[in-house]
Amino acid sequence: MMHVHQQGHRGSRAPGRSDERVLIYHLRDVVKTREAEGVAFKLKVPSLQIALGEKIALIGESGCGKSTLLDLLTFISRPTAVGAFRFRPEPGAAPIDIQAHWEKKQFNELSDLRMLRLGYVMQTGGLLPYLTVRENIGLSRRLLGLDPDAVDELAYDLGIHKHLDKKPSQLSTGERQRVAIGRALAHRPSIVIADEPTASLDPIAAQRIMALFIEMVESLNITVIVASHAWRHVKSLGLRRLKLRIHKDVDGGVAETIVSG
Ligand SMILES: Nc1ncnc2c1ncn2[C@@H]1O[C@H](COP(=O)(O)OP(=O)(O)OP(=O)(O)O)[C@@H](O)[C@H]1O
Ligand SMILES: [Mg+2]
Repeated sequence: MMHVHQQGHRGSRAPGRSDERVLIYHLRDVVKTREAEGVAFKLKVPSLQIALGEKIALIGESGCGKSTLLDLLTFISRPTAVGAFRFRPEPGAAPIDIQAHWEKKQFNELSDLRMLRLGYVMQTGGLLPYLTVRENIGLSRRLLGLDPDAVDELAYDLGIHKHLDKKPSQLSTGERQRVAIGRALAHRPSIVIADEPTASLDPIAAQRIMALFIEMVESLNITVIVASHAWRHVKSLGLRRLKLRIHKDVDGGVAETIVSG
């Protein structure tokens, strides 16, 4: 159900136009600059639109700004300049103006949003060593006051149910990444962001775990963004690849990256 009030433009909206999809992210003219030891890096996002349920790949060489973009999309770092930055985790609700939260210094709202709506899979898992697999997977649900029911079933689907009572140090790298995926999905976020989730695995394990991950987000109807330096890891999985334009400085370092999609 959609009510469109556009005086003088009635009937002018063609079906299938991109603005009729439900966008989970809508960014326009977002910039993030970073500087350390006199070396500057600039990430520019003229336009980025990601629809709910989409599967997105962010592929580029080391240092091109993948993590910088993901830090913006997870509200961890504040953009340097913003035309628009809207986040709409629920199809029926109004988009949330993320930039307004930054401007009003509403950091609690941003971290609540992050906890409730986002799941994050890190390159090396990021599991808590003193918690069991079951507790690690269940952590986000516990923090949100949800029942722990979903955890065992999720572990079963990920093929790690035999390890539920172990600590992360007793698992292989691949098993740890499966736990990290379980943890990111357990609270049923709107979107899962994965930053090089299989970088520490051998190619065969990487393919297998990436395929399992994509299959699971699909079946749970969760939007996903996967960052990787290697397209071959995700090529066969039907992801939409964002466009990156990279400008290097004279030393060969990445000075500026423009992302759109
Ligand atoms: N905290 C920071 N302060 C200053 N500059 C930074 C900071 N973090 C990253 N950079 C710089 O920003 C640029 C982009 O880094 P970023 O971590 O986003 O790249 P990446 O694509 O994720 O690389 P990788 O594939 O190695 O993870 C690099 O030039 C980096 O040196
Ligand atoms: Mg990175």
